Amino acid sequence: MRWGVWGAEFSTAQYRTMIEACLENGIACFDHADIYGGYTTEAEFGGALKEDPSIRQHLKLVTKCGIQMTGPNRPQHTIKSYNTSKEHIIRSAERSLQNFGTDYLDVFLIHRPDPLLDPSEVAEAVSQLKQQGKILAFGVSNFLPHQTDLLAAHTLIEYNQVEISVSKADAFSNGTLENCMKHGIIPMAWAPLGGGLFTDETHPHFRSITATTKELAEKYNTGLNEILLAWLHTHPSGIVSVIGTTKIDRLLQAKAAASIRLQREDWFALLQAATGEEVA
Ligand SMILES: NC(=O)c1ccc[n+]([C@@H]2O[C@H](COP(=O)([O-])OP(=O)(O)OC[C@H]3O[C@@H](n4cnc5c(N)ncnc54)[C@H](OP(=O)(O)O)[C@@H]3O)[C@@H](O)[C@H]2O)c1
Repeated sequence: MRWGVWGAEFSTAQYRTMIEACLENGIACFDHADIYGGYTTEAEFGGALKEDPSIRQHLKLVTKCGIQMTGPNRPQHTIKSYNTSKEHIIRSAERSLQNFGTDYLDVFLIHRPDPLLDPSEVAEAVSQLKQQGKILAFGVSNFLPHQTDLLAAHTLIEYNQVEISVSKADAFSNGTLENCMKHGIIPMAWAPLGGGLFTDETHPHFRSITATTKELAEKYNTGLNEILLAWLHTHPSGIVSVIGTTKIDRLLQAKAAASIRLQREDWFALLQAATGEEVA
């Protein structure tokens, strides 16, 4: 989301350098959505893949559909809206395949719950795309348990990508993570580092988070971001962090966090720092 015109504005050479640096360091999964960069980022990333098609087999492409944005690349859209019709899902997957220059997507997600979502239509689209080998796995994003339950009765859901971080912790209490465990869904956490704000000591809202994170970083002999990510990874649902950085060193930092698990009381110390109160 942040590599294209919504962020670092990478050139094709910069995309290629980042992709290769990731692969060399064992980071192989790249998160996209059709709308990123106002419908431009998938194709830019694909431009780098097309330069060396042998790269494709080494990486996993995640992308999403279902949000219809307005703007110069979609002049036919008169209002921002959601579309989870069978036709739209299939057309979106095919467009993403074209953008990336590939014949399959590893993971295809519905970006947001749609009030007009018809689960049987979504299931038909998913079934067709899977039968044709165009998608290998299907999932959702930003779905609450009741929305996931409805769709899970019609089709296999393997991922739910939701915002989860120390300061956006509702997934721990609103049933989202329990629902993932119930259905065997892998939770993906977007904005796991709050855009870098939790380690900004001057930020008025996050001072107590930063202070506790620092204490834990010393105790575990690691960095602040590693602790913030370890806080997510300690949950038994197996949360996977989706990091938005444009810097390879920060990705490597995140990778170092993958194996850290916090002790129970340390986990609650960070929760308390974020909420400002002890648990009941
Ligand atoms: N499913 C959804 O609805 C949804 C919504 C939003 C995002 N997403 C996905 O989730 C990804 C992550 O979200 P995000 O980009 O908002 O989250 P994030 O990883 O919490 O934040 C990344 C931003 O924080 C900055 N940052 C500062 N210090 C950092 C550090 N130490 N480590 C990492 N980043 C640091 C990065 O700048 P630098 O580039 O300078 O490091 C970047 O601008 C997105 O890129 C997108 O793929 C999904």
